[in-house]
Amino acid sequence: MTSAAHRRAIICTGNAHKVEELGELLAGLDFDFAALPAETELPPETADTFVGNARIKAEAGHAGFPDAWVIADDSGLIVDALDGAPGVWSARFAGEHATDTENVDLLLERLADTPDDERTARFACVLVTIAPDGSELVAEGFVEGTILRAPAGESGFGYDPVFVPIGHTESFAQLGSDVKAQLSHRAHAAQALRDQLVELGA
Ligand code: IMP
Repeated sequence: MTSAAHRRAIICTGNAHKVEELGELLAGLDFDFAALPAETELPPETADTFVGNARIKAEAGHAGFPDAWVIADDSGLIVDALDGAPGVWSARFAGEHATDTENVDLLLERLADTPDDERTARFACVLVTIAPDGSELVAEGFVEGTILRAPAGESGFGYDPVFVPIGHTESFAQLGSDVKAQLSHRAHAAQALRDQLVELGA
C-alpha cells in the first residue's frame, strides 16, 4: 500500500463524537478524518454480529467514496447471564426507538434475579476498515466488567450508568470520559486498528 500524506479517512457514522474520538485515538497516522456527509444514508444494520453490521456500513461507505479509506464501527453490551444479550441489539433492546433509560431499565429487570457474582458482562467494539483498493481490516476491542443493580452516575451514554469496569468500583458514568477513554472497548479496538495500519506501513 502506498503512503501518501494526508489520506482521507471517512468515519461511517452520523455521530460527530465518534469522528472526533477516533481521530484522537488514531492521531499521527497521516489520515484526515471526516464524517460521512450528512445526506448520506447508511443501510439498516441487519446482521446478527458486530462485524457483520460494521461491514454493512463500511461497504456502503466504500461504494460511495471509493477513493477514501472508510472506517465503520459497531458496538454493544454482552451480558453472560442473558446468553450474550443485548449484543448487536443493544441500541434497540427495549424497542426500535428505545431510549437509553428504557434499555437500561429492561436490562436491570432481566437481571433482577441474577446474583452479584453472575452479573459479568463486556462491551465489545468492532471496527471494519476498507482501503481504496478494497482490502479490509477488522479490529476488535473489549472491556470486561459487571452490571450494577441500579444506575449510578451522570456522564456518558447507553449502559454506562450500570457498567462497572473490572478493577474499579464505580460505573463508567461515574468514572467519566477521561477514564473511559483509556479503558473502553472503542479505545482497544482503535489501538488494534492502529497496530494493523502501522504494520501495513499505512
Ligand atoms: P452503536 O455501535 O453506536 O450502534 O451502539 C450500540 C449501542 O450499544 C449503543 O446505543 C449503546 O446502547 C451500547 N453501547 C455501545 N458502546 C457503549 C458505551 O461505551 N457505553 C454505553 N453503552 C454503549
